[in-house]
Amino acid sequence: MARPNTKAYQKTDRMTLQINSFDEYKEVYKRSVEDPEGFWAEQASSFTWKKKWDKVLDWNFKEPNVKWFVGGQMNITENCLDRHLEERGDQVAILFEPNDPDAPNKTYTYKELHAEVGKTANALKANGIGKGDRVCFYMPMVPELAIGVLACARIGAIHSVVFAGFSAQALADRIKDATCKAVICSDYNARGAKNIPVKKVVDDALAMGCDSIETVLVHQNTGGEVQMETGRDKWWHEEVDGQPTDCPAEPMDSEDMLFILYTSGSTGKPKGVVHTCGGYMVYTAYSFQNVFQYKPGDIYWCTADIGWITGHSYIVYGPLLSGATTVMFEGVPTYPDAGRFWQVCEKLKVNQFYTAPTAIRALMAQGDEYVEQYDLSSLSVLGSVGEPINEEAWEWYHEKIGKKNCPIVDTWWQTETGGIMIGGLGSHSPMKPAHAGYPLPGIQPCLLDADGNELEGNGIEGLLCIKYPWPSILRTTYGDHERCRQTYFSAFPDKYFTGDGARRDKDGMYRIIGRVDDVINVSGHRMGTAEVENAINEHPMVVESAVVGYPHDIKGQGIYAYIITAGPVEDEEAFRKEVLAVVTKEIGPIAKPDKIQVVSGLPKTRSGKIMRRILRKVASGDTSNLGDTSTLLNPEVVDEIKNNALV
Ligand code: WTA
Repeated sequence: MARPNTKAYQKTDRMTLQINSFDEYKEVYKRSVEDPEGFWAEQASSFTWKKKWDKVLDWNFKEPNVKWFVGGQMNITENCLDRHLEERGDQVAILFEPNDPDAPNKTYTYKELHAEVGKTANALKANGIGKGDRVCFYMPMVPELAIGVLACARIGAIHSVVFAGFSAQALADRIKDATCKAVICSDYNARGAKNIPVKKVVDDALAMGCDSIETVLVHQNTGGEVQMETGRDKWWHEEVDGQPTDCPAEPMDSEDMLFILYTSGSTGKPKGVVHTCGGYMVYTAYSFQNVFQYKPGDIYWCTADIGWITGHSYIVYGPLLSGATTVMFEGVPTYPDAGRFWQVCEKLKVNQFYTAPTAIRALMAQGDEYVEQYDLSSLSVLGSVGEPINEEAWEWYHEKIGKKNCPIVDTWWQTETGGIMIGGLGSHSPMKPAHAGYPLPGIQPCLLDADGNELEGNGIEGLLCIKYPWPSILRTTYGDHERCRQTYFSAFPDKYFTGDGARRDKDGMYRIIGRVDDVINVSGHRMGTAEVENAINEHPMVVESAVVGYPHDIKGQGIYAYIITAGPVEDEEAFRKEVLAVVTKEIGPIAKPDKIQVVSGLPKTRSGKIMRRILRKVASGDTSNLGDTSTLLNPEVVDEIKNNALV
């Protein structure tokens, strides 16, 4: 395939927001914490605003109430699209790599993307969708997903993208929580050798009483058969194709909602993290340009799914705001074989490659021959995101993929932070295996002990908090502001608490240790143990369950479930399958436990709280020192659990 035209600029050009050396980083960082408002106002001024802000920042972490660029008006899509038309209208914006390796690439130049977004935005309007309405997306990684999301932003509708691996039940919960007016989906999802019915899942979800839904817009992807409900269900091509390409960008206040994205916490149901327009725009572009050191003409590829925050910020918004060429990949890393990522890197001459440790570990386990067949000399920066990267995977990534020539930027951040918080800046920053490194300009991390005292100096370990707002911090959790306060701002006064533990080493570099709450990270997917337990408890035989994470070679963490049943289990294998089916139905296959142990009781304190510490230790295969169990309500179950452990 001929390489698409991305050369609107010389590669040597420096981007507007870019830092060019580590010394410059140190200077910029210093300024960003001494005068955050001045610093961010300067970054923000390079964007197109319909009305300039009156005040840079209004904030307190008590309520919390954080407002950036107060009184300013803009539209993020004018900054993603219109702003680039004159200088790089014919440059490729989205470079689509289909699931089928033999199918041709599809490209959208900035001009074409602008037109497609305009048509789609007009189609949404024609279907009665307007500013403030919530629109749910349940789609595979096809260009129409990015186009649809941008079309919402164009008219001020709020997108809520749900990862297409979630179950009908999970989808219905999210649609209801946000009272969405429309769902946009595909007919099927071509994923590896599979053709997964997507519209069918939407039908099942809507049968669960999603009364707010008026329209279902169906994109024809693989062309398989679907059922269409007259009046409600409409074809994308019929609604979009005839529309005018021009759609005026809705003026949005900086603090108007841009999107909702559901994520798991340590308690209850997933919550809808809310991001707003102005600050999110400034921070995703700023962090994209600096971390990846993208140069005009480069081809950038992030392998995440747009159903997660990484896809929102670093497939769609950050790159497009920066006028980059962003690759969208429909497939999976192991289809047709474990060399797919590297084959695509060679074919598209990818410069920046951003993926998750779980993918690296899985591909590493398949053997180097899948890598060695391909020419990876175009690569200049490698990124890692979503979970701690172990040293072995880091070394392999560095040596076999980067040929020791590419910096690895290990980027720590969260759905709630909107953008990368700690991580290297391309080749400028010092790097150390498994260390995320230094905070980005404007980010003020700190480490606290359990009593909330800030730990000073280096060579220390504590709870990772952030003490000052940055432009893309979450504003609320949809429909429940108190939950936002409780979850992130109540543990320590005047601090945002991340839920992670971290170390600051002797050089001041951060190493993320992992979650200190009941959130587990399975293959980079965030899950609440309570959420998985609630799903398991739906099985009629289950009396009580406790779920913990344990170290897993490929997935980072695996899911270990301890289950108390009503009466003896006759056929353990059949029961196990039923539990997996229940979890798949309630949440989706990503939440299926790897190990299930039927127990007669769970270790509990005298106040009835499950002692998860013991369960975690047993699950990790370490039963040597379980600590003092004599104060338990039922110390006798510990031996039973230990003796029957599945390790
Ligand atoms: C974990 C993903 C170590 C962390 C962008 C965080 C990481 C959670 C890293 C957020 C990293 C993310 N090193 N751990 N580079 N990046 N995490 O919301 O525990 O899906 O709190 O956002 O992933 O997951 P989320």
